[in-house]
Amino acid sequence: MIENFEFHNPTRIIFGKGTLPQIGPAIKARGCQRVLLLAGSGSIQKNGVYEAVCQGLKEAGVQWVELWGVRPNPVLSKVREAIELARNNQVEAILAVGGGSVLDSAKVVAAGFYLEDVWEVFERRAAIERALPLFTVLTLSATGSEMNCAAVLTNETGRKKWAVVHPGLFPVASVIDPSVQMSLPWTQTVNGGMDALAHIMEYYFLGRTEEVTIALDEALMRTVIRVVDLLQKDPTDYDSRANLAWSATLALNGISGVALKGGDWATHQIEHGLSACYPEVAHGMGLGILFPAWIQYLQSCNRPQFQRWAREVWNGDSVEAGIANMKATLTRWGAPTSLRQLGITKPELKTIAANACMVGLLGQLKPLALADVESILELAW
Ligand code: NZQ
Ligand code: ZN
Repeated sequence: MIENFEFHNPTRIIFGKGTLPQIGPAIKARGCQRVLLLAGSGSIQKNGVYEAVCQGLKEAGVQWVELWGVRPNPVLSKVREAIELARNNQVEAILAVGGGSVLDSAKVVAAGFYLEDVWEVFERRAAIERALPLFTVLTLSATGSEMNCAAVLTNETGRKKWAVVHPGLFPVASVIDPSVQMSLPWTQTVNGGMDALAHIMEYYFLGRTEEVTIALDEALMRTVIRVVDLLQKDPTDYDSRANLAWSATLALNGISGVALKGGDWATHQIEHGLSACYPEVAHGMGLGILFPAWIQYLQSCNRPQFQRWAREVWNGDSVEAGIANMKATLTRWGAPTSLRQLGITKPELKTIAANACMVGLLGQLKPLALADVESILELAW
């Protein structure tokens, strides 16, 4: 039977070419006059995003202070620095301009503004009660962070890469101009596409009778694969950028998981263990290596759904063929398909598994213990 569900997503999306300056009026409409602009390492200065955002803020009469230097696989120490700056300048909102790492950091700053120690929330020893209004300008479609209420952060002490999910973390408004993603290095486009696929798959394999959601998920997965292929031929193809961007948003804004019991998420937790130990490994790249191994290990748990995935998404007549086609696609895109290719040695797998399992059993389809995670990592090696 299809499970009862609730669906609510309050984020306003402003989507399309030339929309960047609209972030100014969106902030003003909420009554905020002073914001903290949070950014990464400078890509937005090279591709014109920063300039267009500043223009929008100025025209709307919004003042801002800036903090740069959020890095991929973002860390707690940077968030603490941002919280202090936000407090010292008495900002009324946070504006994230960048990819998922900047957006996630901004979410934690927005909540941490009101907390003594925001990491306590990650440890489940404190709760978010309120957060500053959050606005985002997305420059890399991958995480869905622009339209969801999750944030992932690494506490460098103890190498804990953990997530928080709270309704107060939904952005008020997010601007997505797909044309600004033409400046992405090819690997980041692939990582983004893979992350979107992975978000859908985290839900999809729990499916049985939820036809609407499952059909939608298949359409999204096929679209992602098709448009990444098109972008490999022409990275400046606007329509493919736009289709990828909207697919990635839909992959993790709640729509792709309606009635699918909250999803599995073991593969994500294993990946978070991987990029906690090796911060230079991009999230999407790690997922591309781990997901085929997880499928191989878990396929007997809901075989009809795995077979359906192989058939409908990868044109394969068996789960093995589906996995092989997925790996061939990643290889065609230039992405690694084994941990070995990342330079990780076999003895290191135990460290990754232990890191991922710090939080207990992983996933829903079959809750995975340490030994299961080690086996999956060996398959991925
Ligand atoms: O720092 P800058 O200079 O901006 O460069 C970034 C960064 O080096 C660059 N970039 C972004 N937009 C660009 C661009 N370069 C050229 N042109 C552009 N338009 O891309 C690099 C990677 O950025 P990052 O934000 O790290 O990538 P992504 O969006 O994939 O975010 C990954 C993070 O999000 C977490 C991941 O674990 C990881 O920490 N996730 C967040 C989720 C969520 N909030 O719901 C769910 C995901 O499953 C995921 O865990
Ligand atoms: Zn992800």
